[in-house]
Amino acid sequence: MIKHGVKKGDRVVIYMPMIPQTLYCMLACARIGAIHSLIFGGFASKELSVRIDHAKPKLIVTASFGVEPKRKVEYISLLEAALARVQSKPHKVLIYQRPNLGHVPLTKGRDLDWEEELAKAQCSECVSVPSDHPLYILYTSGTTGLPKGVVRPTGGYAVMLNWTMSAVYGLKPGEVWWAASDLGWVVGHSYICYGPLLHGNTTVLYEGKPVGTPDAGAYFRVLAENEVAAFFTSPTAIRAIRQQDPEAALGKQYLLKRFRMMFVAGEHCDVDTLEWSKRVFKVPVLDHWWQTESGSAITASCIGLGNSTTPPPGQAGKPVPGYNVMILDENKKPVKAKTLGNIVVKLPLPPGAFSGLWENQEIFQKLYFQKFPGYYDTMDAGYMDEDGYLYVLSRADDVINVAGHRISAGAIEECILFHPAVADCAVVGQEDPLKGHVPFALCVLKQGIKTQESKILEEIVERVRTNIGPVAAFQKGMFVTQLPKTRSGKIPRSALSALISGKPYKITPTIEDASVFKHIEELLKKN
Ligand code: COA
Ligand code: AMP
Repeated sequence: MIKHGVKKGDRVVIYMPMIPQTLYCMLACARIGAIHSLIFGGFASKELSVRIDHAKPKLIVTASFGVEPKRKVEYISLLEAALARVQSKPHKVLIYQRPNLGHVPLTKGRDLDWEEELAKAQCSECVSVPSDHPLYILYTSGTTGLPKGVVRPTGGYAVMLNWTMSAVYGLKPGEVWWAASDLGWVVGHSYICYGPLLHGNTTVLYEGKPVGTPDAGAYFRVLAENEVAAFFTSPTAIRAIRQQDPEAALGKQYLLKRFRMMFVAGEHCDVDTLEWSKRVFKVPVLDHWWQTESGSAITASCIGLGNSTTPPPGQAGKPVPGYNVMILDENKKPVKAKTLGNIVVKLPLPPGAFSGLWENQEIFQKLYFQKFPGYYDTMDAGYMDEDGYLYVLSRADDVINVAGHRISAGAIEECILFHPAVADCAVVGQEDPLKGHVPFALCVLKQGIKTQESKILEEIVERVRTNIGPVAAFQKGMFVTQLPKTRSGKIPRSALSALISGKPYKITPTIEDASVFKHIEELLKKN
């Protein structure tokens, strides 16, 4: 990296699969004070290009291929399509050619071959940085049309992660830990890479799925073969295993000798899934709540501090030391126990939390600190019980949580609106037995469109797939004559999401034309 001009403060975009080389790149950046920005492989070219243009990397590191259950991920063609769109071209692209998957040709003058560079590389000294120096930028969803690059300061994050490994997860140095996430998400940054390594734990890096690689026994096999002591996964992954192997018959053949704790996060964990996990994994299973912005748990059952391993069902823990979590109503007043409201954190935020949004400090202030002065607005809604346990129920913004992945409804809408036949659209989350929620589009066609609706739906599905990426899991939609909107033109997302999910919904008085809801309900019944 240094040889090719990467210095402290320069950005390096990493677009790679779940292989050790991705970790090496992250650590190499940290060593020289370069700021890495990982982009999840499930994002397609347009999303990739927006992030590249915003981060303006000097170097992009990628691999020839990734492995998904049904296909190879062709990073190079995705990257080429992204680079064709960007204003801010990187100086160099470093490519790791994955053995046994076929070589990709290099572009002369731009591309560098990983093995060749490694053969010539020399060790360089660690570069000291101030504690608030950005370790990474991690793009996340939540505000239509704006790249939201969460900036993580180095020092506080390292201290926080190291502390959580024992306080939150109850691990001793030397034990084996597995966070079954992807390096491209915050869980991957904090608990596949930095947390366990700082604390002296072995970290498991798994390029595979809970099912289909090859079967629903895979997680049990990885836990057994690596003698994992504690494991972190998502409720979706557990639901996927349960769906394919309801009694975990495949898992039972493995002896989990050292396994003693399991943690879930990323989305609301229903009690049924939690209880099933306890029964088949035969360990306590603890839900905890956090966000890309926090970088570690905001609420948890801190077993290293003596918290209970059998908290009440449905909760996501109590505030972790450093986080003063409160529930406020719309008038910014604290609510009574068990009353639904906005989940906020009284300032200051603890070390490890984000320090800003990359090149967007104004939006940072406005988005997170304006609505509730003196507090960080988590944009989640929920309640706290008398004992201080938090119950997280839904998002208050346009985020749809798809299989534990944060997808912006606004970004999907933007993409659909580019279709020449679509005049207006609203995307909301529909409940899904496997992924928690999946995006569902309600589209209004332009006057005089004669094309079959099913054909238009096919085209917009493809459009979202190639622009945002397959990870959005967008497949469903319906055509309506009008969308419900508030008088100020906003989409009533939570009511619409409840309606689409066949649940009771509330129409607020600010809705312009309430009859639109009935019309959609009737159409849904016919479909
Ligand atoms: N690179 C490229 N493509 C990716 C990808 C990656 N890293 N991750 C997912 N995708 C693609 C998949 O190949 C799939 O594409 P397809 O439509 O061509 O099949 C699409 O994105 C959706 O993938 P996924 O969300 O994995 O859904 P699935 O139906 O293939 O699998 C599960 C279902 C439940 C197995 C899967 O969602 C899963 O493992 N979920 C757990 C996620 C998790 O642990 N999240 C934790 C975040 S903290
Ligand atoms: P991300 O930033 O991608 O980690 O997503 C953070 C969002 O996921 C939160 O704001 C919540 O909406 C949701 N989330 C994470 N963990 C939990 C949990 N344990 N329970 C309910 N929702 C959760």
